[in-house]
Amino acid sequence: MSIEESLEQLVALKERAKLGGGQDRIDAQHQRGKLTSRERISILLDPGTFEELDALAHDWEEDGEHFYGDAVVTGWGKVDGRTVCVYAQDFTVFGGSLGEVVGTKVYKIMELAMKTGVPVIGLNDSGGARIQEGVAALAGYGEIFHANVKASGVIPQISVIMGPCAGGAVYSPALTDFIFMVEKTSQMFLTGPDVIASVTGEVTTMEELGGAASHVSKSGVAHFASKTEEECLDEVRRLLSYVPSNNMDDAPHLDGGDPIDRRLDDILTVVPGEADMQYDVRDVIERVVDNGEFMEVHEYFAPNIVVGFGRIGGQAIGVVANQPLYLAGVLDIDSSRKAARFVRFCDSFNIPIVTLVDVPGFLPGVSQEYGGIIAHGAKLVYAYAAATVPKITVILRKAFGGAYDAMGSKHLGADVNYAWPTAAIAVMAGSQAVNIISRREITGAEDPDAERKRLIEDYRERLEHPYIAAAKGYIDDVIDPRDTRVKIAHALDMLRTKSVQVAPKKHGNMPL
Ligand code: HXC
Repeated sequence: MSIEESLEQLVALKERAKLGGGQDRIDAQHQRGKLTSRERISILLDPGTFEELDALAHDWEEDGEHFYGDAVVTGWGKVDGRTVCVYAQDFTVFGGSLGEVVGTKVYKIMELAMKTGVPVIGLNDSGGARIQEGVAALAGYGEIFHANVKASGVIPQISVIMGPCAGGAVYSPALTDFIFMVEKTSQMFLTGPDVIASVTGEVTTMEELGGAASHVSKSGVAHFASKTEEECLDEVRRLLSYVPSNNMDDAPHLDGGDPIDRRLDDILTVVPGEADMQYDVRDVIERVVDNGEFMEVHEYFAPNIVVGFGRIGGQAIGVVANQPLYLAGVLDIDSSRKAARFVRFCDSFNIPIVTLVDVPGFLPGVSQEYGGIIAHGAKLVYAYAAATVPKITVILRKAFGGAYDAMGSKHLGADVNYAWPTAAIAVMAGSQAVNIISRREITGAEDPDAERKRLIEDYRERLEHPYIAAAKGYIDDVIDPRDTRVKIAHALDMLRTKSVQVAPKKHGNMPL
């Protein structure tokens, strides 16, 4: 074969690989409102940076049709100039299902990401284990799960669900750090509606069972939902701007020109003084972070706590804040799990944690107790206590009971703790406390209601303020709320060189 002929053969093979499962299936993919794997990669990455690997990989059966590259496109490229590894399942080949070739390709790109210390992004559009390949498909998934776990806490792992994903195609994402979904065109489930109907008799649809709306709000399995694939991939790029490439690196420093000494002039009108009046804590967060830019994570799940990324003075931070707008900002099972997982991510990847506290306590109730609030609340305590990144906490209005301890208190190793003068720090609110400690005075009084009121007022003056905590050094200072941003910025700057020695151990036994 001449050089020219061999080049022609190479071009033909590459063209065949690009066609995946063929033009008809590509058209069907478009008709479903979905892009192809290559189209997705070209939107995700900086133009012209994609380098594909294993485009010519295929199984070695002599007869039958070969799909060059099989059902996944893998390679590396750049996002905002930073290298990432990527794999994109190709639904046009056996529904993106995973057999031996796909498993080997995905494992290989994950290993490359680990060796080079760069994030790995998986674009998932797959029916799970390839049924025809039997145990080889299961082996492929097992190895990917193993790689997910080895990579956990070493490189950021991001999963994007872009089609109907079943079985192993959802278990691997569940082992990664963040899951993005696209509304209406992506679903996640272990088994689809047909199997469910035959096993349990429940009737459901793919969308109801595993659509973005279900997973970002009900199960909490997914963190982000977008209306279109393009928006979704843009959000992935945005998330990457807040995270380092690996656990030895720092997140990119992006100075947006917002002065760190900017005072929060209108903050006193944002947060009402009365402890039980609602406000949106995101209005506080947006005033604290650079240019009001806050990327909320898990927005629709457990909205009684807000978590997400922002920057102060250009440095990426993770924010955890109770949300008085929902359930008075109480800590319950879901909000404890949500915040604990976020704190763990930030700690794995050197992202300082800023905690804004306004919490009435843990949610009492039979269903919470039966659901294991004790163990789930302990996750949050564990996550904060184990985190060695800089931890800065500001108590805005109230911090009662165990929730005071759990929300980044000094006692769990926070580095700098401030309180606003409005902060009420106590075992419980006076309105509950007097019923326990002054029951006899109230019932024996001539006017029990008036006595109760007087006792609550007395409790507030004696115990519901930040100055006892400040006197004991549990709060480093009581600050003017308008100085919140500058105080956090100075603390972040001071904590840049923080270093903590942890007693040697294999790993702790987190209450999972
Ligand atoms: C082989 C598959 C496949 C699979 C889909 N296809 N899933 N081929 N193995 N797992 C093929 C179809 O035969 C079809 O081929 C093409 O992909 C598109 O599939 P459709 O069914 O036409 O598409 P759609 O109606 O959109 O439904 C998509 C789907 C459904 C919801 C994913 O195909 C489905 O339920 N698939 C099976 C899911 C499943 O049970 N997987 C095994 C999970 S167990 P043609 O030739 O017509 O284009 C697992 C274990 C791992 O993953 C370990 C976990 C711990």
